[in-house]
Amino acid sequence: MNQDELKKAVGVKSVDFIESNSVIGLGTGSTVYYMIEELGKRYQNGDIKNIVGVATSSRSQKQAESLGIPMKDLNDVDHIDLTIDGADQIDKNFQGIKGGGAAHLLEKMVATNSHKNIWIVDQSKMADELGSFPLPTEVIPFGCEKTFSDLKAENLHPEFRLDENGKRVLTHNKNYVIDLKMGSIKHPHLLADWLDHQVGIVAHGLFLDLVNKVVVGYDDGPKVIE
Ligand code: 5RP
Repeated sequence: MNQDELKKAVGVKSVDFIESNSVIGLGTGSTVYYMIEELGKRYQNGDIKNIVGVATSSRSQKQAESLGIPMKDLNDVDHIDLTIDGADQIDKNFQGIKGGGAAHLLEKMVATNSHKNIWIVDQSKMADELGSFPLPTEVIPFGCEKTFSDLKAENLHPEFRLDENGKRVLTHNKNYVIDLKMGSIKHPHLLADWLDHQVGIVAHGLFLDLVNKVVVGYDDGPKVIE
């Protein structure tokens, strides 16, 4: 199976965990695309009833709406039962890096308001240690050169994320993304704590202690790891 087929297989499989009468957080990305597509099918044929979705990006919002899935804003639900999202890298302790699609701030807000979180990934995302995938941060434009210098001084190898025209990528909230290209993250909790205390950084892509179930796409089919 190619990577896209693996993503589709886990996206479809993950919908088995969605129950009727629940509020579902919808992540962002090419793997989540398949999950939302399958959820739309099962909602339309009545296998899953009475759900509300909470999106983590305008992409997922639009896709879910186009399939007729009722959607609400995070402000308008009192809880989320389950969020299903993709990830960029997951270590053996289920700690993860997210934000490859620059949606990590909204994804983290939805994830931390969810009773349960499931990640869906193809096998290439599983790693012994985090860090070979660059760690995204989201920084406010005001004073961003100072924020950049602080990250550099900490030896975190920052780089502004650029689009195909060489312009700085803007997030949903019109902030910049600085990727940290460290190669290896030995102490994710210490790093997350330091990043959490930097005033100009709105969010970072370390998602720690949030997930206890991952659906991984292997060539012989999706496996649920808990
Ligand atoms: C977006 C994310 C995505 O979930 C992550 O990048 C995985 O994406 P994909 O399923 O396309 O590989 O964190 O901010």
